[in-house]
Amino acid sequence: MLNIRINKTANPKEKYKPGDKLGFGKIFTDHMFVMNYTEGKGWHDARIEEYAPISLDPSAMVFHYGQTMFEGMKAYRGEDGKVYLFRPDMNAKRANDSNKRLCIPEIPEEDFVQAVKAVVDVDKEWIPTGEGESLYIRPFVIATDEFLGVAPSKTYLFIIILSPSGAYYASGLAPVGIWIEDEYVRAVKGGIGFAKTGGNYAASLKAQVKAHDDGYSQVLWLDGVERKYIEEVGAMNIFFKINGKIVTPMINGSILPGITRNSVIKMCQHLGFEVEERRISVDELVAAAKDGSLEEVFGTGTAAVISPVGKLRYCDDVMVIGDGNIGEVSQKLYDTLTGIQWGKLDDPFGWRVEV
Ligand code: PLP
Ligand code: COI
Repeated sequence: MLNIRINKTANPKEKYKPGDKLGFGKIFTDHMFVMNYTEGKGWHDARIEEYAPISLDPSAMVFHYGQTMFEGMKAYRGEDGKVYLFRPDMNAKRANDSNKRLCIPEIPEEDFVQAVKAVVDVDKEWIPTGEGESLYIRPFVIATDEFLGVAPSKTYLFIIILSPSGAYYASGLAPVGIWIEDEYVRAVKGGIGFAKTGGNYAASLKAQVKAHDDGYSQVLWLDGVERKYIEEVGAMNIFFKINGKIVTPMINGSILPGITRNSVIKMCQHLGFEVEERRISVDELVAAAKDGSLEEVFGTGTAAVISPVGKLRYCDDVMVIGDGNIGEVSQKLYDTLTGIQWGKLDDPFGWRVEV
């Protein structure tokens, strides 16, 4: 159990106004959670203080070798006025899976969840209440040793910032176009693809720019060895409905084990759909699109929620999926997931956690 010092700002910022378009990750609240790590002392000095720039030595290791971990989660304001988190224990666990891979000291899972709840509680007035809006939560760790040798840092900062946000994609629930990347790769087994760490995203930018220039929203990555099997999208996992079955790439060490992905699989099974977690080749996908058996495509993620995909591009093939609207199963999953998250539906899985 952390002893969290709370020092509230004397100068709260002006909040957005109801009806303002929030976008994603552009506005930040009044406070942040901060905790230090020092070798020999462990995690210490847990505090909530004014959201403000932090000062680091230019030699701080994070700037040079990218030893860092981040998480993504949300707080929802229910119609009953209560504040909910969604499966925060899963984020705490995944944070440590990333930490272990990056040689960052683990954070006790109950401390991680306690810190998230505490900072959300301090800034709960910032949780937006418009349709599809929530408070995006970004916990992260950075290596802070002042040293240019390549080695794990002996000091770290764990920070949690909060951002009132709307839909991740400007188009909301309108289907997006996805570019299947055939030149660059994101991750390989044995690498860091399964971890949530900055390097994976830095590695994705080149293809992302290429996709954007061609009018596509995000990149769908193929495996890094054969460039043949579907992995995941830049900020979400991917699902297909092929011949009535829900199919998604299995967790293989190079893709992020998404919490939304895990939840969607459980919801699909609960709703009576057959779900297959397996290898899916891009050739299978192109063939399914051509013979009409590719019925729906959607991405899943905390920021992206359930995002329908209306178009996939792979080399010379442009595959159009559906009729320009969200598919029936994607819509059902969106309604069920958001219904549970916002406290509008029963929660048979016990996923909702009150702050
Ligand atoms: N894959 C990547 C690369 C992501 O950045 C995300 C977003 O967090 C996801 C998948 C989806 O994960 P989750 O559902 O836990 O948010
Ligand atoms: C999330 O969905 O929480 C993410 O981390 C995606 C992010 C890369 C925008």
